[in-house]
Order: sequence, then C-alpha cells, then structure tokens
Amino acid sequence: MPKYTVVTMPGDGIGNQVLPESLRALKAVGFDADYIPADIGWDCWCNQGNALPDRTIELLTKHKLGLFGAITSKPNKAAQAELKPELQGKGYVYYSPIVTMRQKFNLDICMRPCIGFIGNPLNYIRKRIDGGSDEPQINTTIFRQGTEGMYAGVEWTNPPENVRATLNSHPRFKTFSDIPGPDLAVSVRIITRNAARRIITAAFEYAKKKKFKAVTICEKPNVLRETSGLMEEVAKEVHKNYPDVQLWSTNIDAQLMWLNKNPEDYNVVVASNLFGDILSDAFAGLVGGLGFAASGNIGDDVAVFEPTHGSAPKYAELNPPIVNPIAMILSAAMMVEHVGETDKSDRIKNAVAAVVKEGKVRTYDMMRIPGGAKSISQGAASTTQMADAILARL
Ligand code: NAI
Ligand code: MG
Repeated sequence: MPKYTVVTMPGDGIGNQVLPESLRALKAVGFDADYIPADIGWDCWCNQGNALPDRTIELLTKHKLGLFGAITSKPNKAAQAELKPELQGKGYVYYSPIVTMRQKFNLDICMRPCIGFIGNPLNYIRKRIDGGSDEPQINTTIFRQGTEGMYAGVEWTNPPENVRATLNSHPRFKTFSDIPGPDLAVSVRIITRNAARRIITAAFEYAKKKKFKAVTICEKPNVLRETSGLMEEVAKEVHKNYPDVQLWSTNIDAQLMWLNKNPEDYNVVVASNLFGDILSDAFAGLVGGLGFAASGNIGDDVAVFEPTHGSAPKYAELNPPIVNPIAMILSAAMMVEHVGETDKSDRIKNAVAAVVKEGKVRTYDMMRIPGGAKSISQGAASTTQMADAILARL
C-alpha cells in the first residue's frame, strides 16, 4: 500500500493543465502516494449548485492531503445565470469553494513562500545610487491567517435593526448614524486569540527550523487598535517561547513601501487574513509573480496545497498549454515537505532552481512577452516543455 493518499482537485481552466505536471514531478522523486481525483469549481456549481461537492469533502476528511489547481468564480448575477435551468430560482447561493474549504477544515495557516530563484529574469532589480543595480536575494515566507479577519464573511449592506442598534452604541458610529441602510455597508474584522496564536506560532516555528533571524508581524495597531492590537499582543506573548528569534513589527502600508528598499531583510512575515493576502501578492511580484507563487493551507488535520494563481480562462483552451507549471510544482513540493519528506521536496525545488538558472527553457511569462497561441512561436516553452525540463533534472 502506498504511504499517502492525495486528493487531487484540478478544478477549472489552467488548473487542469498544471496539476498533472506536478504529479509527474511527484512520481519522478518517488513520492509514495495514491492519487484520487475529486471535483471542485465552476462546473460543480453550474450542475449541482455547489462548487465544493460532498464527495470532495468526504475524500479530504478521509485522506487529509489535497492538491488543488485553481477555480473560476464569477459575481453573483453571472453565477445565477449559469446555474443549470432546473436549479435556477431554487435559492442556491454561490460560495467560493476555497473559502468554504478553509473554513470547513479550519485550514487556518496559509503559508506562502516567495523565494527568488537565481537567474529568473522576473526577479526584482534595485537601482543603486552609483548607477549600478543589485538583485536582492529574496527568501520570504508569508504566514497569512486563513479563516478569519476581514474575510470572516460577517458583513451586511443595509444592516438589520439589531446590528444597527449595536453600531449606534459605539461613539465613533455617530457620524454614520443617519446614513440610509441601503447606502451603508459594513464588514466585520474578526480576530480571535487562539487563531492568532496558531498562525504566529507557525511563523516562529518555521523561523526556528530554518534558522532565520526574525519574524515580522505586519499589522496596523496604531489605527486598528483592537484587532491589529490583539495580533501584536499575541505576537509578543508567543515570542517569549522563541528567545533565539527576534520579533520585528511593521505597519502594512510602510511594509509595502519598503518592498523596494530592503525586501531581502524579511524572511518570515505573519499577518491577519487580508493583510497577509496583500503581502503575499506583493512579495510574489518581486520573485516572478503568479507563475512562481505556491501556497499551503494547513489545518490541524487536513492540508491542501495550491498555486495562488486562478484558472486564467483566456489561456485554458490553448493547445499546447502555455502557462507556467512551476507554481503548481512548488506547491506539490510544499506538500511533500509538509509530510516530512524533506529530501524529496528539496530535490523538486533544486530541479526547478536548476532549470531557471540555466535559462534555456522559459514559459511566456518568464520571457515578458504576451501570452497567447503565438508565444510558442516566439520561443516560449509550453507548460509540458517546462515540466519536461524540470523532470529531466530529476
Ligand atoms: P488568474 O490568476 O487566473 O490570472 C491572471 C493572469 O495571470 C493570467 O491572465 C495570466 O496572464 C497570469 N497567470 C496566471 N497563472 C499563470 C501561470 N501559471 N503562468 C503564467 N501566467 C499566469 O486571475 P484572474 O484572471 O483574475 O481570474 C481568473 C479566474 O480565476 C477568475 O474566475 C477568478 O475568480 C479565479 N481565481 C481563482 C483563484 C484560485 O483558484 N485560487 C485565485 C485567483 C483567481
Ligand atoms: Mg490573492
């Protein structure tokens, strides 16, 4: 019997192109697993009124490890219009299957490494005052709280009377108290001590394991006194258990401004949900963007690994496929590391690094040319050629 069973969820669009390439990489390093395909995404919504079918939930509950490609999601009106006729008007509501998955399995630790590969032409270059330039070696992992914060989903337009009454009891709400309901939208930013402790502890554990100097908590406690304040308080508390790791604190706005100054100084950054989402995209932009951005959503029991990119529908029908499979392959490598098979995970990462460094095989995004059917004739590698090059190194 194989040691692991992985639930594979290619999803929509380019998810179907990149996920199979990552399975080839897993096989090449001898990762001892069975793979069970499961459905997720837009077709499930259109045909079943549910983008995350029960069977997929059952499989994840049972096998606890998931590899996920990407999904398509659309605004509510489009979602209703594309629902199959028998299901229309029956009260089905579209929910993002990713958010549902994170909440259902409490995948609260979202880990997003942004690590620059030497030779990647998309890496951030910094101008020096002597006219020369530096390419900072960026090795940052963002720990983003994945289940609460601004994305908890507790929000209203035209809040009900009782909510309004509660809001009115806050002195700062006075300026808004006369706004008509339909003109008032409210989202609640929820931070709980336990979840804050879990994400911050995960960040410190990682820094300790990788021997990084510091963990940076990136919030905005001078303005968001309660919620960011609680994050900071917990960070100070957790820090006491890690005397060999420093705790740095930055504000989200300043941190983003500093990205062009000294991004290489930040190895581990921890933040609440929305800020972590923003930070991970911002750091990913310095190391190659969506074609390189891998992630893991890790709970106590279940863990799901996925590239951060979406389904890129405009490229989904191209044959051969042109999108970069590296983000997906690195996500699979994260899964391998998560179960403790560090050697195999390192082999995959080293193979990617070698191909990027050599620079012979590059997908369209790495060549900074427009994507499309023409990019192959302009010298871009296809999705499969990139995966082949990585496999050849394995
Ligand atoms: P997207 O990530 O699908 O694509 C944005 C652009 O990034 C693409 O047009 C392409 O130029 C580039 N890109 C993405 N992945 C790439 C890759 N592997 N290699 C090279 N280039 C790549 O985001 P977009 O266009 O905003 O959304 C498309 C659909 O995906 C929407 O329905 C959206 O809701 C969904 N989405 C799903 C996500 C997920 O499944 N985790 C995340 C983001 C969006
Ligand atoms: Mg994002």
